Order: sequence, then C-alpha cells, then structure tokens
Amino acid sequence: MNLNGVVAVVLALLAYAARRIYAQNRLLVPMTLVQKASALGAFCLDGSLPAYHLHRGSGTGTDKWLLQFEGGGWCNDMASCLERAKTRRGSTRLMTKWEVFSGILSNNASLNPDFYNWNRVKLRYCDGASFAGDAKFDNGTSFLYFRGQKIWEAIIHDLLPKGLGHARMALLSGCSAGGLASFLHCDNFSKYLPENASVKCLSDAGFFLDERDISSNYTMRSLYRDLVSLQGVEQNLEKTCTSSLKLPYLCFFPQYALKYINTPFFVLNTAYDVFQFNHILVPPSADVHGDWSHCKQNPAACNANQLETLQGFRDDMLLALRGYDKSRVGMFINSCFAHCQSESQDTWFRDDSPRIHNKSIAEAVGDWYFNRRMSTQEIDCAYPCDSTCHNLIPKP
Ligand SMILES: *[C@@H]1O[C@H](CO)[C@@H](O)[C@H](O)[C@H]1NC(C)=O
Ligand SMILES: *[C@@H]1O[C@H](CO)[C@@H](O)[C@H](O)[C@H]1NC(C)=O
Ligand SMILES: *[C@@H]1O[C@H](CO)[C@@H](O)[C@H](O)[C@H]1NC(C)=O
Ligand SMILES: *[C@@H]1O[C@H](CO)[C@@H](O)[C@H](O)[C@H]1NC(C)=O
Ligand SMILES: *[C@@H]1O[C@H](CO)[C@@H](O)[C@H](O)[C@H]1NC(C)=O
Ligand SMILES: *[C@@H]1O[C@H](CO)[C@@H](O)[C@H](O)[C@H]1NC(C)=O
Repeated sequence: MNLNGVVAVVLALLAYAARRIYAQNRLLVPMTLVQKASALGAFCLDGSLPAYHLHRGSGTGTDKWLLQFEGGGWCNDMASCLERAKTRRGSTRLMTKWEVFSGILSNNASLNPDFYNWNRVKLRYCDGASFAGDAKFDNGTSFLYFRGQKIWEAIIHDLLPKGLGHARMALLSGCSAGGLASFLHCDNFSKYLPENASVKCLSDAGFFLDERDISSNYTMRSLYRDLVSLQGVEQNLEKTCTSSLKLPYLCFFPQYALKYINTPFFVLNTAYDVFQFNHILVPPSADVHGDWSHCKQNPAACNANQLETLQGFRDDMLLALRGYDKSRVGMFINSCFAHCQSESQDTWFRDDSPRIHNKSIAEAVGDWYFNRRMSTQEIDCAYPCDSTCHNLIPKP
C-alpha cells in the first residue's frame, strides 16, 4: 500500500472537517507535553515528547472522563516511518499546539448532550502504529522510536493523578487508527480505573476488515504484518488472541481482537467506510487502470458489478459483527460513504446529522453508554436507502 496515499486521504478528510468546524464557535484546547514520558522511554517517532489536550469537566461531569485517540494512518516500513517522523504525524514538535474540540469533544450541551461537561482528552498520535508498538531502530545514522505502547502508558500515568484515577465513569474512544487503538487498549484502560467505575469503549471508523482486495490480494494483511513486525507490536496484543491464531499479527484486526475484550464496547462504522473502500477493498495497486475512480468519487457513478462488490464488503462487515450480545457490544453501522463520524459536529449531532431509525450517532452512543434503551445495535439498510447520510468523500 502507498502510505503517502493513506496520509493524503486522512489529511483531505481532516481539512474538510476543519473547514466545516471553523464556521462555528470553536473550542480550542492547548497541548500538554508529557514531561515524565522520557523516563518511561515513551517518545514520538522522531524522539519528541508525547502530548495530549485536556479540557476539564465541570458540575456533574467532574469525575467523568472521555479519552479520544487521534487517528491518522500508519507507517509500516523504514521509508514511510522516516518520512512520517518529519511531519505532524510523527512529531509533537510539528503539531498544532491548539486543537479544536467538536462533536463528541464539544463542551456545548446542545451539540454534545451526554459528554459536554466531562473531562475530555485528545491523545495525540505520533507513533504510527495505533499506540501499540514497542521497539527502536538505530543503525548509527538513522534512528526512530516505535513506542506507541509506552506513549499510551505515559499519558495514562500523567492523567491518573489529575483525576482519572478516581473516575466514576469513563469512555475510551478514538477515530480511524485511533479507533483501532481503542480496541487494543480497552481492557487495559478499565484496569487502571476504580473497580466500581463504569468503563466502556468506543471505536469510530476503526473496524478495519481483514478483507481481500478486488484482485484477491490481502493488501491490508500485508500492511499490518509489516507494521506489527517493524514496530514490535505483537508482544502488546491480547495473549489469548495471539495464542489462538496461526498468524498472531492478525489480532491487530479488530474483528479478531473484539472477541477477547471484556469491557462493554461500541462499534461505530459506516458499512462503506471510504478509507476501507479506497485502501482495503480497492487499493490503487488493484485498480491500475482506474476503473473504479468514478465510483470512488461518487457512489451514484458505480456500475452494477461495483455495487455488488461494495455490498459484499458490507455483508462481510456485518458477518464479522454478528453474534455479539447486545449487553456487551453496541453498534451503529450506517450506510454512508464516510470515515470518522464522532468528531465532526455535522455527523455527531445536529438536526440533519445521519440517523438510523431516526436516531443520531450521539443519541445512539449516549443511549448505549447510559443503558437508556434496550436496542443498542443499530444496523442500517443497504445503500442507497439512507437519505440522512453525509457522504464525506476524499478528493483524489
Ligand atoms: C451551543 O450551540 C448552540 C447551537 O449551535 C448555539 O446556539 C450556542 O450559541 C452554543 N453555545 C455556546 C456557549 O457556544
Ligand atoms: C540506516 O538505515 C537507514 C534507513 O533504513 C538507511 O537509509 C541507512 O543507509 C542505514 N545506515 C547504515 C549505516 O546502515
Ligand atoms: C466507588 O467506591 C468508592 C470507595 O468505596 C466510593 O467512594 C465511590 O462513591 C464508589 N463509586 C461509585 C460509582 O459507586
Ligand atoms: C496495561 O498494559 C501494560 C502493558 O502490557 C502493563 O504493563 C500494565 O500493567 C497494564 N495495566 C494494568 C493496570 O493492568
Ligand atoms: C498480489 O500479491 C502478489 C504477491 O504478493 C503480487 O506479486 C502481486 O503483484 C499483487 N497484485 C496486485 C494487483 O497487487
Ligand atoms: C425523529 O426525531 C426527531 C428529533 O429527535 C423528532 O423531532 C421527530 O419527530 C422524529 N421523527 C419521526 C418520524 O419519528
């Protein structure tokens, strides 16, 4: 897979989201560098200190905590990681020092009814392996830190004395590569919190499928195999999962990891996730003649065969999510062409935001978190039935 492509897609999506956010009242939250991280050997790819952004809760939210992993693709070989280390995806030195908090991170009760007054934290992503690696590369001329796992631990240890350690309620969340991190760290997170706390996890657009591409290649498997091996991820994957599979690195895929997660989990994903469509199902390597380029830009331009392929992808996603008890796994699988729906206000909670059975994403997540309704598994009818979608399609 072309990782520059991955980064470009993510950047395009973020730029799009940002343009929409800037039209509204913005909440900007400053960065906190984790000074004690160096003692733990927790560094970004380039050796800079890891960081997070914390906006304090108030009132009834004072002892409630929402942690949100930032996303942004991965790097799976030396070339892509060296390149990444020179960008804001691999170094806190190059990141914006203020982040916009919107959607699930908003502090406005009418935009984020259930979490607006919680302590809300955005964990910055600078390791390139969904906060899960632990290795180092140094050959005398080049060096890179692959310390995502240590970054996770360093941030948690920094937040525990700030109140996280006494939380009464907590939600670990994240989008894209951050949504994957949420699967990987969910049970570990709950162990740091008081035994009687209500702890749950949410993944937004992180349910990356172990699916063959249209040329029958396991493009995504190869990417994850290389990533797990380069960044020393395997030791940090769930042991009962890795010992049950012939290919232990597959436990990096949520569909294998989810079975072993004991903490209540919510899967928010579109069945036609545009990242997965463009990089797992139809990666550029499998569409050299560009037969899919119109369909990728506009679902209405897909021909019958392409639609059938997309419906097959949706079927496989639903199959991978089947059989989970409603009390353990909630879900909201809509039929939109998008990637990440919890951080941008338009898709999270607004009059015209996406809905299933007339329920917005914020309502579905809130109902599930607070056990307000029986049904916690919302699955949309297949494309093109849903007229509430915000299709957020990255430009090529
Ligand atoms: C909260 O959001 C509502 C709806 O967009 C807006 O009317 C109101 O001004 C916002 N409140 C604050 C304090 O920004
Ligand atoms: C060190 O690794 C980098 C990246 O793989 C490579 O470009 C460089 O040639 C290596 N240097 C030595 C001395 O092997
Ligand atoms: C959890 O237990 C602690 C210590 O016994 C107590 O102070 C706290 O109120 C309890 N929290 C909940 C949510 O029950
Ligand atoms: C979380 O995971 C790390 C790495 O496996 C481990 O060292 C740590 O003890 C775990 N934390 C808890 C509270 O179990
Ligand atoms: C599929 O994978 C094989 C083996 O890795 C490779 O030789 C081939 O070029 C790949 N085909 C495409 C279209 O990516
Ligand atoms: C859908 O929900 C909205 C707001 O939650 C409500 O005003 C509307 O009446 C509902 N529509 C239907 C058809 O139930």
